[in-house]
Amino acid sequence: MSYDVPTVSRTEPTRDSRLYIRNLVKRDPLTGLADDVRKGLSAQPKRFLPKYFYDELGSQLFEAICLLPEYYLTRAENEILQRYSDDIVAALDGQKTLVEMGSGSASKTRLIIEALLRIQPELLFMPVDISATALESSSRILLQSYPQLRIEAYAADYFAGLAELGKKPRARTLALFLGSNISNFDLEEALRFLRAMRSVLQKGDALLLGADLKKDPAVLEAAYNDALGVTSAFNLNVLARINRELGGTFDLHAFRHRAFYSETMGRIEIYIESLANQQVRIEKLDLTVDFAEGELIHTENSYKYDKAGIERLAADTGFKLARTWLDSQERFSSNLLLAN
Ligand SMILES: C[S@@+](CC[C@H](N)C(=O)[O-])C[C@H]1O[C@@H](n2cnc3c(N)ncnc32)[C@H](O)[C@@H]1O
Repeated sequence: MSYDVPTVSRTEPTRDSRLYIRNLVKRDPLTGLADDVRKGLSAQPKRFLPKYFYDELGSQLFEAICLLPEYYLTRAENEILQRYSDDIVAALDGQKTLVEMGSGSASKTRLIIEALLRIQPELLFMPVDISATALESSSRILLQSYPQLRIEAYAADYFAGLAELGKKPRARTLALFLGSNISNFDLEEALRFLRAMRSVLQKGDALLLGADLKKDPAVLEAAYNDALGVTSAFNLNVLARINRELGGTFDLHAFRHRAFYSETMGRIEIYIESLANQQVRIEKLDLTVDFAEGELIHTENSYKYDKAGIERLAADTGFKLARTWLDSQERFSSNLLLAN
């Protein structure tokens, strides 16, 4: 059964009139997961969509990944935003609204919010994230820190969120897509996402696009194979989620995390490998699935970019790459794409 009518939940409107959260994730959140797990396990090779990493535990595990010594991406992007947020926000004229796709904990967003509040008296922030729990907790924390902030948040898939944003008249808009979220898309998906993003922006608005850069494969592979095993837990949590939410019987000890760099594809590929010939039952799907020893389930890609690649993406989607900032070790890029 699917529900086309979005559910609307105002979160304690009487206690905090500065927060409005609209939940566009289907009323039965299992429907999308169930359909996609069935499709993914029937595909050859088997695959899961990366958006299903982010249940409550998955969102917390991602926050832990951001603290790992091997996972340089968050620290590098944070360094750029600390150093250049005033320049970034100054690139747009007028009173600005801030939009963010896949905002998560919105920790780095604080640097942009603070830069905006240095040049304007108040700010409307419109975050979109598939994880309703991450969205709600990050919104509440931000509102406590910034009395001049109002938040209209959308718990939604990127495209459903963009469709909503498209209906809202906005002041000059600075949109954020941080953390190299763009890396999870292949070229076609990245073009589709950026065109959808462009369609909700006006000429003169801008998108700040975080993109991880190509570099020594050993550094890249270490970032996705940390010694503590947090990335492994994040990856295998998809199986735990299927067990929890769909009545699956995955034995997590019988699978392992795999991540490696493909030079030809220019991307980190992330898989879950079956360690034995085995059968798994998924009760709510009335499905039994066979896995061969060594069989891989694809869970995520993380494409690595160079400047020419980012310029092409911008030019093909109605943007102009106006400026690129790098961290001091030139590992990560923040790119200002102006809507033209
Ligand atoms: C890699 S984390 C990055 C979080 C944050 N932007 C950062 O830079 O640390 C990806 C975020 O995007 C959200 N997300 C993933 N797939 C999504 C989708 N298809 N639609 C909306 N949000 C999504 C996740 O819930 C998560 O918060």
